[in-house]
Amino acid sequence: MCAQPTLGFIGAGAMTEALVQGVLAAGWTAPGQIHVTNRSHHGRRAALAARFGVRAHPGKGPVLEACSTIVLAVKPVDMDEVLGEVGPVLRPEHLVISVAAGVTLARLARGLGGHPRLVRAMPNTSCQVRQSATVLAAAPGADKADLEVARAVFSAVGQVLTLPEEAIDAVTGLSGCGPAYVYLMIEALAEAGREVGLPAEVAGSLAAQTVFGASLMALRTGEGPEALRLRVASPGGATLAGLRTLEEAGFAAAVRRAVQSASRRASELGSAPPRRGARVRRHP
Ligand SMILES: NC(=O)c1ccc[n+]([C@@H]2O[C@H](COP(=O)([O-])OP(=O)(O)OC[C@H]3O[C@@H](n4cnc5c(N)ncnc54)[C@H](OP(=O)(O)O)[C@@H]3O)[C@@H](O)[C@H]2O)c1
Repeated sequence: MCAQPTLGFIGAGAMTEALVQGVLAAGWTAPGQIHVTNRSHHGRRAALAARFGVRAHPGKGPVLEACSTIVLAVKPVDMDEVLGEVGPVLRPEHLVISVAAGVTLARLARGLGGHPRLVRAMPNTSCQVRQSATVLAAAPGADKADLEVARAVFSAVGQVLTLPEEAIDAVTGLSGCGPAYVYLMIEALAEAGREVGLPAEVAGSLAAQTVFGASLMALRTGEGPEALRLRVASPGGATLAGLRTLEEAGFAAAVRRAVQSASRRASELGSAPPRRGARVRRHP
């Protein structure tokens, strides 16, 4: 019988939680094969262990000892510190996958003392429900098998594409940050539904299901979103009235600007020098 794969996480925040939940839901490995550590937040580690059955450690040593694939899931600003701690204890067989926005493969390799087996991944938090859109970019020193391992991890939690690294900041601005734009759309739809007289619960559920159904149509029918939109909007009808209002308000242009500024910010985050003493706690 094949041993179940091991997976180590440095960082125990939102992205780690989404990935852990997704790979376990997919049955990719067993909870005991997943090892997690963070910087200092003991309660957060304990909560992940209690909720998912994964193994939580106060330091990086046991994670690196137990796992051959290590996911670096810390903020870009904390990455240099982490690379400095992980680099000296890496073994040649370790595959390191970074999900950090903007942190290049060259910077990872430098920080890890030239370790060649590196993959950059840009997933999104829909990993949690196994619907991530993930893009991978492999370092020149990663071999086919390394990319296959990364592909297997992220395929367990959604769709995976492999692209040249130059595309990753653009990917971050679109699909890495994209769930937040869509949540804003759902919030706005739900609020508007309430304003036109629907009960809050009904408006919330109609808004989310409408976005879900439209996404499935765009993914599954093979028709482009423009053709689908034109099919809904019959001349003189209610949809056209709504679309015209969005157009007048500059909806599409605002979305374009959002993706552009998020992509730019991703690239800035990756090149910014580490900031000390500016951490914001978000987990209980
Ligand atoms: N959230 C998203 O939607 C998303 C999507 C795609 C990619 N990403 C990328 O995923 C990465 C993580 O994001 P996140 O949202 O999960 O961040 P987060 O919730 O703030 O979690 C960051 C984690 O990093 C840990 N950490 C910081 N310094 C450390 C150190 N020196 N050693 C060990 N652990 C350390 C923190 O531990 P303490 O709490 O103990 O300080 C915390 O558990 C980011 O680089 C982001 O660009 C995020």
